[in-house]
Amino acid sequence: MSTAVLDRALRLGPLEVPTPVVLAPMAGITDAAYRRLCAEQGAGLYVCEMITSRGLVEGDEHTLDMLVFDERETTRSVQLYGTDPAYVARAAEILCADHGVDHIDLNFGCPVPKVTRKGGGGALPWKRTLLARILERTVTAAAAYDVPVTIKTRKGLDADHLTYLDAGRIAQETGCAAIALHGRTVAQAYSGVADWDAIGELVAHVDIPVLGNGDIWEAADALQMVEHTGADGVVVGRGCLGRPWLFRDLAAAFAGEAASTLPRLGEVATMMRRHAELLCEHQGEERGCKEFRKHVSWYLKGFAAGGPMRRSLGLVTSLVELDRLLADLDPDEPFPVAELGTPRGRQGSPRDKVVLPEGWLDDADGSDLATGGLREEAGETSGG
Ligand SMILES: Cc1cc2nc3c(=O)[nH]c(=O)nc-3n(C[C@H](O)[C@H](O)[C@H](O)COP(=O)(O)O)c2cc1C
Repeated sequence: MSTAVLDRALRLGPLEVPTPVVLAPMAGITDAAYRRLCAEQGAGLYVCEMITSRGLVEGDEHTLDMLVFDERETTRSVQLYGTDPAYVARAAEILCADHGVDHIDLNFGCPVPKVTRKGGGGALPWKRTLLARILERTVTAAAAYDVPVTIKTRKGLDADHLTYLDAGRIAQETGCAAIALHGRTVAQAYSGVADWDAIGELVAHVDIPVLGNGDIWEAADALQMVEHTGADGVVVGRGCLGRPWLFRDLAAAFAGEAASTLPRLGEVATMMRRHAELLCEHQGEERGCKEFRKHVSWYLKGFAAGGPMRRSLGLVTSLVELDRLLADLDPDEPFPVAELGTPRGRQGSPRDKVVLPEGWLDDADGSDLATGGLREEAGETSGG
């Protein structure tokens, strides 16, 4: 491993991230509890799950519910979704002025049909002028508070409609502090393998920092990605599902130490308990336990725990019940090393066709949409 990739901080405008590792925003996952849990493991930037600009501007209760920070969260980082320059800029201002946010990321990668159908997420960069207007206005709004704005995008709509190099140029021209690239197209969703060559091409194309994203399952993958692409940092999503200690390994790897944490089931149970406890602290016991359930199968992936135990954990309603169930796990069972380096979380299959607004591909500019011509919903939260 060349020493060039090691021991270097990531600079996002005024913000310095000592370890160049970012927890990918994941809707329904990267809430305050999970960000705290990961932050307890290693240094990095931990992005809040996506919130919608319109929801924030209109004071939507569900949106505000997600805008919660842990008391120990010193760097507040939030991802915004939006399609209307005025709403996104206003939402950025609210985040800075009222919520003490230190970093704003903008979602231009979501592949969910409900979102791309309206021209949002991964569909939006096709409209270059609209993208530029959103970025210009948002960067200006956040600059008044010295808060950096970054964007996160995909390679494009599909192999015939790539957008990432233009998006990188536009991000740079409009003053964004960095661009994160997930090396897949919208049509690929989460299928196949992330294209790290595209990340390298983007690095060569722009002068702002590039963050590489896609298929980092182990700390060694992160170093390899940086070496392969020249990226300034990495964004890690599915690899840390049920494995918050991956951040410990990532911090060690970027400090030049080879580390692979292999917790026994007893240590995994302790981590599960901590996760549930933090969720309950933030959301109350009933809702916290309900939220915790979706993480159970990721924590136990590859371990021998049988169906009845998994089912009971997947229905847990209180911390007392959780303790009782976790006590039945064999604490000495070793970590299932066959799981290392393998995909986890969403994979799915590619889509034949990306769902887009009618006539979307006819014009790659979208200046007609830059003055509020694209409908933005308040409650869109699917992420992706
Ligand atoms: C459950 C889930 C929710 C996601 N939500 C978002 C989101 O809200 N915003 C976003 O930009 N990406 C979202 N993503 C995409 C991830 O941030 C990341 O780009 C993708 O998973 C690829 O990285 P990975 O291979 O490290 O997982 C989501 C992914 C998953 C699995």
